[in-house]
Formats: sequence, structure tokens, C-alpha cells
Amino acid sequence: MEVIIRQAMPQDFERCIELQKQAGLLTAKGEVFEPEWLAEYLHDGLFLAAEAEGRVCGYILGEKIRLQGAYVWLLVVDSNIRHAGIGTRLLTAFEDLCRSNGITWVIAYSALTESTLGFYRKNGFSFGDDFREILKHL
Ligand SMILES: CC(C)(COP(=O)(O)OP(=O)(O)OC[C@H]1O[C@@H](n2cnc3c(N)ncnc32)[C@H](O)[C@@H]1OP(=O)(O)O)[C@@H](O)C(=O)NCCC(=O)NCCS
Repeated sequence: MEVIIRQAMPQDFERCIELQKQAGLLTAKGEVFEPEWLAEYLHDGLFLAAEAEGRVCGYILGEKIRLQGAYVWLLVVDSNIRHAGIGTRLLTAFEDLCRSNGITWVIAYSALTESTLGFYRKNGFSFGDDFREILKHL
């Protein structure tokens, strides 16, 4: 199965939301990234999709932050095709994109499952303390 990594597009949003729900990556208020929010991340290009057989099977979405950093908000691969290297390809492409934009470090937060921790460990991330996401709408 050929997988291509490319910039995300508005046509991907519905599938991105489906994958976010499938992975249970909801905000502390149980929300998904709505299409209007996803659209905001197209501007600086740190939003990549993995496509296989014409269908989005994963994506990574982040943003540039101060001091040459980037924050990863979401990284998801369809649960039916995990462990095939797609997550690593998405993360590597994201890191390459960051480097070419002068970004020197990437921060993310991980689910406390062995699979996700194992994924980030394998990809060279250091682990800090465990925190709980908290959120308040103003
Ligand atoms: C994390 C995630 C993106 C990885 O995607 P993927 O396409 O499976 O990743 P890869 O195939 O590139 O790498 C998988 C590697 O992770 C590690 N890993 C996966 N499951 C593991 C487990 N149970 N124990 C230890 N390491 C594990 C291994 O190193 C594994 O490599 P292997 O398949 O050669 O054994 C995917 O599991 C996912 O979408 N998870 C749910 C969402 C999530 O937690 N996202 C991250 C926080 S935003």
C-alpha cells in the first residue's frame, strides 16, 4: 500500500475529525477540532495528512510557538493500519518542515499508554512528569 504525506486540505477535515474521535483524542471538555479550527492550521503549513488509496489514514497538526518551538496538537493514525510506520513518517515530515522553518524543538503531549509512549520514545522524545490537561472557556 502506497502512502503519501502531503499538506492537509479542507476536503480532509471530515475524515480528520472521524480519526480524532476514533482515537479518543478529545479536549478536556470532550470536543473535537471543528472544521473552522482545523482551517486555522492550514496557514502556517504544520498540518500534514497521510493518504493511502485516496483516503486520509492519518495526520499531524501543530503550530509554531515562541523561541523557535513547535507544538503538536494532534497526531493520529487510523487504528486499522497502525504499526506500519505511518506515524513515524508523519512525525518525521513534520520535523523536517519545522527545521526548514527555523524551528529547533518540538513539544507534544502523549497518552499514557505503552503504545504511544513507546512511539515517542522510539522517535527520540524525552519524557517529563505526567500532567492532566485542564481547560476553561472564557
Ligand atoms: C501514536 C500513533 C500515531 C503511532 O502511529 P503508527 O503509525 O502506529 O506509528 P509507527 O508504525 O510509525 O510506529 C509504531 C511504533 O510505536 C511503538 N509502539 C507501538 N505500540 C507499542 C507498544 N504497545 N509498546 C511499545 N511500543 C509500542 C513501537 O516502537 C512501534 O514500532 P513497531 O510497530 O515497529 O513495533 C498511533 O498509535 C495513534 O494514532 N495513536 C492514537 C492517538 C495518539 O495517541 N496520538 C498521540 C498523541 S496526540
